[in-house]
Parts: sequence; C-alpha cells; structure tokens
Amino acid sequence: MLGKLAALRRMTNVVGFFNELHGTYGDIVRFDVPGRTHIAVFEADLVRQVLEAQADALPPLNPVSSFEVVQAEVLARKPPGEDHARLQELVASAYTPERIAFQDQVAAEEGERLADSLNPGAVDLRASAEEFAYRTLARIVIGGGEELGREVVSPSLLAIKFNFILFAMPGYRFVKRLPLPHDLKARKAIRPLDEVTYREIDRARRSDAVPVSMVGHLVRAASRFDWRFDDDRHIRDEAYAILLGAVDGIVHTLSLAPYYLGRHPEVQALLEEEVDRTTDLSRLRNTRAVVMELLRVQPPATILVPRVAVRDCTIGGYLIPKGAFVDVGIHTIHRRPDYWQEPDSFRPERWLDGTRPGCHFMPFSLPPKQCQGADLAPKLMTAALAAVARRWRLEYGGAEFPPPVGLRPGSFSGGVTASVTARPANGRATPPEPHFGQPEDQPE
Ligand code: HEM
Repeated sequence: MLGKLAALRRMTNVVGFFNELHGTYGDIVRFDVPGRTHIAVFEADLVRQVLEAQADALPPLNPVSSFEVVQAEVLARKPPGEDHARLQELVASAYTPERIAFQDQVAAEEGERLADSLNPGAVDLRASAEEFAYRTLARIVIGGGEELGREVVSPSLLAIKFNFILFAMPGYRFVKRLPLPHDLKARKAIRPLDEVTYREIDRARRSDAVPVSMVGHLVRAASRFDWRFDDDRHIRDEAYAILLGAVDGIVHTLSLAPYYLGRHPEVQALLEEEVDRTTDLSRLRNTRAVVMELLRVQPPATILVPRVAVRDCTIGGYLIPKGAFVDVGIHTIHRRPDYWQEPDSFRPERWLDGTRPGCHFMPFSLPPKQCQGADLAPKLMTAALAAVARRWRLEYGGAEFPPPVGLRPGSFSGGVTASVTARPANGRATPPEPHFGQPEDQPE
C-alpha cells in the first residue's frame, strides 16, 4: 500500500525524480518500494543491453487493461522474439514508396486544414493538435473515419491515462473488474470508427487495388510474412493500438512548440523564413530540426514502458533480480551533458550539422521494440508546424511551463491556451538573424 502510494507520488514528477536519482547515484540505480524492486537506467550502452541484448529476459510490461478498447496481443504488446519480429516486418513493410507519398500528401493536406481552422485570438492548442493527429492518422492507418472527429478516440486516450493511474493504486485488479465509467465511455465512443475499420478490412479483401491504408496492407500482406491474425477484431485492434499510441506523442510535441519558439525568436525567424520559401516537406530542414529538438528536450515518453525481469539477469555487471522493474530514463538521457552540448538549451541547429546523435536520442525507443512511426511521426509534425507557421504566429501566454498534455499522469483533459496572430503577408517585415539558438536553461 505504502509502495503504491509512493509510486503514485513519484508519478506526479517522474522527470524530477529520475533526474535526481541519476544526479545522486549514477547510471544504473536500484530503488525499492515495498513489494517491488526498480532499476533505473540512464546510460546508452546499458539501455541497449536492457532493450536488445537482454530483451528476452526483460520484456516490456503492457497491462492489457490499460488500453481498454484494444484487447488482442498486438505488436506493441508482444514481447520481443520470433513472433514479434514477423509481425513487426509485416507492419514495417507498409512503408512502400507509394504509401509514403500518400502519407506525405495526407500530412500536407491536414496541416493546411489545421492552419485553416485557426483564427486570431485564443486557441486551445491541445484540441487543435488532437484533431490534426486524429484526422491524419485515421486516414493513414484506417483509410477513413476522419470525419468522425477526435471525439471517437479522446475517451480512449483518457481511459489509457486513467488506467495507468489505476494500475499504481491498491486493489487495481479488483477495481478493473468493475464496469468503470471511463472504460464504458471509451468502448461506446469508438463504435462508429469500428464500422469504418471493418469496411476497410472487407474492401482490402475484395478489391484488387493495392490499399493505401495500413490496415488494408495488414490484410493483404499478412500471408507474405507467414502471419495469421486470429480474426478481424485482431486486425482492428492492431490499427487502434497504432492510432491510440501515436496521437498523444504528436499532441504533446505540437502543443509545446509555441512555448519554445516564443522564447527563441531567432529560431522562429528561421522557421518562418523557410516555410515562406518552400512547401516541399523534404526541404523543410529547419522546421524538422525544430521538431527533433522538441522531441529531445521534451520526449513524450519520459521513461519507457517498464521492462520486467522474467528471470535473474545482469546489466553492466549488476544483478537484475527476477521480478524487478527496469525503467529507461529517456528524458534524463536526452539531457546528459556528456551526450549533448548545452543539453538544457533548445538548439535546433544541432540537427543541421550532419552528425547523427545515434542511440543518445531515443524518443521512439531502440530496436527491437522501436516505434514503427519513428520516420512518419516527425514528418507529420513538420507538415503541421510548417502549415501553421506560414500563416500564423502562435504564442504561449503563460509564464509557467505549459501543463502536460501527452500520455503522462496528470495530463487529463485540460487545454493549452495559445494566442494566434496573423503573420504579415509575405512573411516577416524584418530579416531574421542568421544564427540559430542561444544557450539558456530549460525547464525539466
Ligand atoms: C511523436 C509521436 C510518437 C512517439 C513519441 C512514439 C513513441 C513510441 C514509443 C516510446 C514506443 C515504445 C517502444 C518500446 O516500448 O520500446 C512506441 C511503439 C510503437 N509505435 Fe510509436 N510513437 C509515436 C508515433 C507513432 C506513429 C505515428 C506510429 C505509426 C503510425 C507509431 C507506431 C508504433 C508502434 C506500432 C509501436 C509498437 C512497436 C513494437 O512494439 O514493436 N508510433 N512508440
């Protein structure tokens, strides 16, 4: 009980807690709460051992109940191994040149739509970003249903958060057996999307045309990868796991953009100069650099889904006892001064000098369970940011850091208010400074 309460308290400031652990005790730290041992890992080679070398001893813990509307053992829930690898190959093979071109087009169209939806004055950026993320992903993953609006998935996103909180509470297993209002709402709200999804599955089976949606691809390509879905519900669950897993990371990142751009006018100027010059997604280098830097300073997943030791094993010579939870501290790793110059400064130009940060940058985790949207997600966010910046300047008015909006405890239904002003026609009146970034302390 005390352990659960301690865990709950920690969840309110996960980043601060893990930074303190690293600062005080080093790269691999054991801490105990009654009934459970945790090992926190903050060093890249040790992380690779956890995620890759010892993947079979340390599978991720994905409580089935957390997703609610997704009950099948989808890719995200599968432990690394032969089964996971085949399904992963199937999902990854969806990214054909034709489908990538379609995804780029959808991103550009939905970015424009997002910009069209804004008006001068106050805007709830969280709601706007959620609408963008939902519509874009519905078109890409399911091949339709965007007209239903984000209302179909918002209750599921909320249920995921509630269930993560419940998971840390005493009596979790018992409570989850009850018909909880947030779960019932999620199940009900998603039903209209089910119709669209099953129709797309059916169409992929009947038509000879190559489907553009990911769900259509799963149907048509499964046999090539010697993969069998249990039934259509399983395919639907795979699509929903991708959709629900992806929305919040995008919302989180886009919602923070005005805060960082507002504090860095030199970055904003270069971004605006670029988006005035080109609409070609592949040439928006500065805009993409802003997105990557946002993902570094504020990774949507501050720690990875915990890995659980199914047997005793060792990491960097340290014993990980059976049953221990292993937490990978992504946020802390992204702010290590030995990995990054001026790690607390928002400096998008670090993404422009051609050096790849390799495994020190892991907002999408690392193989074998690495995110299947690691290329797609930055593109979607780049398209959205560019389309908005071409017409509007968004300012985050609060003196405080914006409230958390992503898949984080504490980030429930509150909005993130930004003020929108129209940019002067043809971009800025004054030319931008020719440099990018200034050292400055950033919030946790
Ligand atoms: C900013 C947006 C996103 C972020 C920050 C993000 C991050 C992550 C993270 C941290 C994981 C867990 C990996 C692990 O436990 O080791 C994951 C898994 C996954 N993501 Fe994403 N993701 C994003 C968007 C997307 C998009 C757009 C897609 C696809 C359309 C996607 C598809 C997946 C899939 C299928 C998995 C499961 C991979 C597996 O278990 O093998 N994600 N993502």
